[in-house]
Parts: sequence; structure tokens; C-alpha cells
Amino acid sequence: MNAVLVLHGPNLDLQGEREPAVYGSMSLDEINRRLIEGGRELGLEVRCLQSNHEGALIEALHEARKWASGVVFNPAGYTHTSVALRDAVSALPIPVVEDHLSNVYAREDFRLVSLIAPVCAGRIVGLGWRSYLLGLRAISDILAERGRRP
Ligand code: DQA
Repeated sequence: MNAVLVLHGPNLDLQGEREPAVYGSMSLDEINRRLIEGGRELGLEVRCLQSNHEGALIEALHEARKWASGVVFNPAGYTHTSVALRDAVSALPIPVVEDHLSNVYAREDFRLVSLIAPVCAGRIVGLGWRSYLLGLRAISDILAERGRRP
């Protein structure tokens, strides 16, 4: 079975409590539970990790080289600022899909910029927790096209 890393960036540990009108009221644990289940239906083993620290996210991406076939990544606030995370994504030989809970295109101007998106296979925004689920589906399809069926 192909394994996929679902990586959550800063403040997403507060998911469900922080700005529910923007990010929804579902906790991160519940999102992860749904993603593990949804991944299983796609034939993917989903492993979830959240960190508030840029270095820890970079190390998780480095580690993913050794065990994952793809990554669904919500870099949260670092999306708009982090050259280091972009470089870490660039270094990966596996597909990375960037995803966001909120519709960043309908928000502040600074959220229009993603330093990460240009080095990703694709980007999904604005669909709440389903942005992650669609990211998993995209990874599954990309792997299938590359002949890496589960
Ligand atoms: C976010 C959007 C980012 O702009 C913001 O900094 C976040 C969450 C999202 O999932 O909608 O923390 O990545």
C-alpha cells in the first residue's frame, strides 16, 4: 500500500477553535480521522503530522523521502513566507499537493501569494477539510498514472 504524509502547518492544532467562520468547526483529530479513512478507501496509508515549527516541517518533508509516495501539505501561514519550506518541497522526488481549508483568493492580499505552489504538483483551496481529501485523491491518481497502484 502506498503511504502518504498529510502535513499540517502552524496554528492548525487549534483547528475547530480558531476563526471557525473561516476554517470550520471540525477539530484536527476529526479531520485526520476522516483522512485516514478516506485514504484507506483510495488504497493509501495516511500518516498525519502537525507542527508549529518551520524546522520540524522541513524535517518531516526530508523524512517523507524515505517512506512516503506523496504528500498533502497545508503550510498554513508559512505558505506566504517560507523559502526554506519551498526548497524542502523542491527537494522531494514524490508528488506534493498544497491544500488550504479557506479560500485564500477571497481573503487578504498577502494570502494571494504562495511560495510553495510553484513547486507542487497542484493546489486545492477553499473546500474545508475536503481540500485535503481531494489532495489525497490527486496523489492517488498521480501514482496510478505512474503505474504505482496500491
Ligand atoms: C490556511 C490559509 C493561510 O493563509 C493561513 O495562514 C492558515 C490556514 C488555510 O488552510 O486556509 O493558517 O492555510
